[in-house]
Order: sequence, then structure tokens, then C-alpha cells
Amino acid sequence: MEKVFIRTFGCQMNEYDSERISGILVKDGNYTFVNSESPADIIIVNTCSVRQHAEDRALSYIGRYVNKKKVIVVGCMAENLKSQLFIKYPKLFGIVGTYNIPYIDKIIKKGGLYVGKNKDIYRPDIIINKNITSYITIMQGCNNFCSYCVVPYVRGPERSRPVTEIEDEMKKLAENGCKEVTLLGQNVNSYYDKDNKINFPKLLKKLVKIDGIERIRFMTSHPKDLSEELIETIASEKKLCKHFHLPVQSGSDHILELMNRNYTSSLYIEKTSKIREIIKDVAITTDILVGFPCENEKDFNDTVKLVEKVRFDDAFVFKYSERKGTEAAKLRDDVKEEEKLRRLNYILEIQAKISEDINNNEVGKIVDALCLGKSLRSSDELKTTTDKNKKVYIKTGEDKIGKILKVKIKEKRTKDAFFGEII
Ligand code: 5AD
Ligand code: SF4
Repeated sequence: MEKVFIRTFGCQMNEYDSERISGILVKDGNYTFVNSESPADIIIVNTCSVRQHAEDRALSYIGRYVNKKKVIVVGCMAENLKSQLFIKYPKLFGIVGTYNIPYIDKIIKKGGLYVGKNKDIYRPDIIINKNITSYITIMQGCNNFCSYCVVPYVRGPERSRPVTEIEDEMKKLAENGCKEVTLLGQNVNSYYDKDNKINFPKLLKKLVKIDGIERIRFMTSHPKDLSEELIETIASEKKLCKHFHLPVQSGSDHILELMNRNYTSSLYIEKTSKIREIIKDVAITTDILVGFPCENEKDFNDTVKLVEKVRFDDAFVFKYSERKGTEAAKLRDDVKEEEKLRRLNYILEIQAKISEDINNNEVGKIVDALCLGKSLRSSDELKTTTDKNKKVYIKTGEDKIGKILKVKIKEKRTKDAFFGEII
């Protein structure tokens, strides 16, 4: 039996892919899994390419082990850099792009280069996840070609999985004790099962019927495709979490156009207002990209204004990182690094105040909280999350793990976590 360690960089979709890799290799029967690098014979590095920093981290990690172990690089950076990785690391055992992950059991025996298109296969028989929360990728790829983004190149065009396959996977997770599933896609709003004519809201309506799964989350939504049908569906179904992750990227119409986002800041504001009109108690989070080429002080101020107007629960803020081959790479990356950093910190600061205000407002509310397990910080506490994805710590018996509890939020524990009590 060879010992395998998987190191995952990047987004939730990569976490899901790493789980699939484990499932395939467990099924194969010739591998065991270890929790760290040193006892491993094989290290699988699942990589991200969204920013240069993510690639740099993965490259230095590979460099540390490539001469000591069989190292296989999988995922977005494998697809992005292809055989260049063999040039940089001649001892590398394998390079496996995003399309070829389902074939890892064959590849791991031979090594070599496996990039480019291949058939997507998902195997319900490989699901080994026994966690309370889990992911399901419902669609791969992206057709949006936002000008800064490498995803359409490394994950290919949009492909939605058939409804029945998603249902089967969710049922299997429910049998394994899963209570909450997060549906993943680069743009879940454009999910469409052509054969059955099922769009994303209709998919959700089917999935809420699956027994055992108490909650469904989803990410990411693209503002241009966010429909009233979806908002109404979320509002009407108890199992659907009242949380939208809706990346805005910028508040400047000029920059949004250069980014090829296909909406204006006022349309974005309209959509978020609609969400809040239809769903009274809802969380909205976002991604913001600062320092895009040509972003001047006025453009940046427009983003600040939008953040102040929309009042997000939370925002992930990134400095623009040029990606080779994208449309934006044709523009000069003209915002200086220090200025990018200043803009990033400025947004983080105003967002922190807004998050604090919003979170202060949560205190006193009675919420449904899913008990996930023991708190990492304190052994007599359990961690729960609300359907708006706020963390609430409670003191109670371990028999409550996996249950949805009525909890009163008593006070704040940190800026984004609370103490609560079962009522
Ligand atoms: N540089 C910086 N951030 C990026 N993102 C995507 N591409 C880039 C890039 N080239 C950010 C976007 C996206 C999030 C997942 O990563 O904000 O929503
Ligand atoms: Fe990238 Fe835009 Fe697609 Fe998101 S929607 S994955 S940012 S191209």
C-alpha cells in the first residue's frame, strides 16, 4: 500500500476535487491516506491559478518535496502551466489538469502529463465523505470571460451536471450523515440541465425534497444572472439558506465594463435591494478586486460608495493580479503595488465597521443553528452556524451534533462570532 497525502490550495471547488481524488483512490484499494507530508510516498498537490500569489505558494511547496517524494500536481495550475512544470521540476512525477482528475487512479500508476479536454465523470460510488457539511459541484467551467480571470481557460466552458446525478450524490451524502450541502459552480445562476429543462431555481426545488439534508447553500452567483425566480425560491423554501455570495468586483461602471462584468453599479444595487425586499433577514457577501488596470481614484471611490451603500455582511478583497492569456493582460497593470495595498486596506477597514454594525444587530435574535461539532478553541463548546452563515458557539452535550437547534444569540465572542444558548 502506498501512502498518499493531498495538499489542497484554492477554492471550495478544489476541496471538492480533492475529496473526489481520495474517494477514487480509496476505491482503487492500493492506497492509504496520511495526514502530513513526511510519512507519504506520494504527494498530490491540488492547485489554484486565480492569482499569481496562489501559484507562487504552490510552486514553492512543490519545490520542497519534488526531489524527495513522488509529487503529482493537479488542478488549475497544472492546466495553466502544463509541461512548463516539468521544465521547472524535472523530477515531477505527474501533471493532471482539471479535466483529468477523474482518471487519477490510472495516472497515479504511470505518471506523465495529462492536460486538455477529457470527459467529465462523477462517480457516486466514490463518495467517502461522512461530514455534517459537504460540497457538491453542480457545474464546471465558466463562459463569462471576465477580463481578469483565468478560470474559463483552466476549467473550460460551462457544463452543468444532470439533475439526477446531483440528486443521487446528495442522497448518498445524506445516507452518510451529511446535513448541509453547499452547491458549487463558478456561476450557479446559469445552471441548466438541457435534457430536462431544469434551471437553478428548479434544481433547488427538487433538492429540498431529499430527506436528511436539512440545509442547502450555494456559491457563487453572478449578479447579471441573478433572477427574481431564484430570490423567490430562496425566500419560500426553509431548507435554502438566506445567504447570497454575490461578487461585485468594482463600483465603477467604467471598470466594470473593462472587466466585462455585464452589469452596472446601479443594476447591482437594484438586485441587492430586491433580495432584501423579498427576503427580510438575509446575508449578502461579496468579492472586490482593487487596482484593476486604469482604476483611478474616482473609480476607487465609486467602489467605496457602493460598499457603503450596499452594506455587505462581509467582503473578500483582492489586489488585481495579471494573468497571462486573459484580456486584461493586454492592458498595462498600471496601479502601483503600494497603491493596490492602500486601496485593499481602505476597503477592509470600512467593511470591518459595517460588518461590526451588522453583527451587533444579530445579538438577541433567535435563530436556527446547525451544530457542526466541537469548537477548536474550547473543549466544552460546540460550534454552530446560522443559515446566514454566522458562527455561534454554545455549551451543550455532544448529542446535539448534527442537529438544527433553536438558539438565542446572547453576545459577541469575536468580531464575527457569537455566544448563544439553546432555548
Ligand atoms: N486578480 C485578483 N483577483 C482575482 N479574482 C479573480 N481573478 C483575479 C485576478 N486576476 C478574484 C475575484 C473573484 C475571486 C474568486 O477571485 O474577485 O471573485
Ligand atoms: Fe472568473 Fe468571471 Fe467566470 Fe467568475 S464569472 S469564474 S470571475 S470569468
